[in-house]
Amino acid sequence: MKILILNGPNLNLLGEREPDIYGNTSFETYLEQLKKQFKEAEISFQQSNHEGVLIDHLQKADKEVDAIVLNAAAYTHTSIALADAVSAIKTPVIEVHISNVYAREAYRKQSFIAPVAKGVIAGFGLQSYALAIQNFLDDNK
Ligand code: DQA
Repeated sequence: MKILILNGPNLNLLGEREPDIYGNTSFETYLEQLKKQFKEAEISFQQSNHEGVLIDHLQKADKEVDAIVLNAAAYTHTSIALADAVSAIKTPVIEVHISNVYAREAYRKQSFIAPVAKGVIAGFGLQSYALAIQNFLDDNK
């Protein structure tokens, strides 16, 4: 199973950015761990700080992968364009967040992506990504 992990703005700073909220591990380090944990999956990874680039990745991935794990970061709470892109593609998308967005500022409780996603996983630290991948693999059996 081919799975794309797509990270949005500021997630390139994982490990350095607000470590009390997002932890001390860079995504590149965690990705190596994920690839070892899920040898049966072919995991690819993209990150962008730009809304349109994230949309381009979603559209391209629709032809190339079986499932997408999307952490749209702050665009989750603002981007109708990203939600439209998720609706437009056939590939299932799970929305993930490292932090528990429901336990933070009120504006983080709103997600434009959640209604068009397969599901949402939030608040399990980086493990949120592993839980999403596990769900895709289980459903693919
Ligand atoms: C985040 C939560 C968002 O509210 C925030 O803007 C992020 C990261 C998370 O993974 O917890 O950048 O998506």
